[in-house]
Amino acid sequence: MPALAPHIACIMDGNGRWAKRRGLPRTAGHTAGEEALATVVREAAHRNVGWLTVFGFSTENWVRPPSEVRHILGLHRKLFGRIDELNANNVRVRWIGRPFDEPGSRTPAPIQKAIRDAIRDTSTNTGMVLTVAFDYGSRAEIARAARLAALETASSADAASNGAHVSPAAIARHLYDPNLPPVDVLVRTSGETRISNFLLWQARHARVYFTDAAWPDFGADELDAALALVS
Ligand code: FPP
Repeated sequence: MPALAPHIACIMDGNGRWAKRRGLPRTAGHTAGEEALATVVREAAHRNVGWLTVFGFSTENWVRPPSEVRHILGLHRKLFGRIDELNANNVRVRWIGRPFDEPGSRTPAPIQKAIRDAIRDTSTNTGMVLTVAFDYGSRAEIARAARLAALETASSADAASNGAHVSPAAIARHLYDPNLPPVDVLVRTSGETRISNFLLWQARHARVYFTDAAWPDFGADELDAALALVS
C-alpha cells in the first residue's frame, strides 16, 4: 500500500569521495552536499513527502579534523538560515540529538541558536517536517529514553527495580522526538550498505534504498527511486 505522506530518512554519505574524484578539498564536497540537501528538501516537499529526516552530524563526527568540523557546522548554519526557502515550501524544521544541557554536549552556542531560530521561524508551516539529526547517535538516544522510562516507572510504583516493566511504548515516549513517525524508507548513498547508528528504533520496519550515487549527486531521480519502494 502506498505510504500517504511517507517518512524518508537519509544518511548523506560520500561528500568527501565526491570531492576527491574532482580533485577538490573534502570541504567542497560538504558544501555541494548542503546544496543537494536544499534541492532534496524542495523536491520532497513537492512530492508530498510527510517527513524528511537527515543525518547531518553524528556524535562520532566530532573526531574529524577541526577545520572540517568547523566547515560542516557552518553548513548547518547555512541550512538553518534558509528560512525564506523553507517557508516558501511550507517546511517545518525540527532537530534531534543530544540535548544541549546534557553532560558531554558539544554543540556550540551559535549552532544551538541557529537550530532554535529555524524551528521557531518555520513553526507555523503545515507541510513537510524536515528533521535534522545533529550531534545524534541512536544508541545514546535509546539508552537515555530507557533510563527516563525506568525512572518514570519507578516513581509510579513502589520498587525502584521496575526497569523490568519498562515497555517499548514507554521508551518511545522518551525518544528525542516522540512525534517522529516510523521511517518508511531509509536511504544511504555512496555505495555504503550500513545503518551506522541512525534511527535504529524508528527505522525498525523501514525499506532501505542503497545507491552508488554520492550525496552531492542525489537529486530528484534518486528521490523518486527511493519513493518507489513505498508507492
Ligand atoms: C558524509 O560525507 C556526510 C557527513 C559527514 C555529514 C555532513 C553532511 C553534509 C555537510 C551535507 C549537508 C547537510 C547539512 C545538514 C548541512 P563523508 O565526509 O563521510 O564522505 P566520504 O565517506 O566520502 O568521506
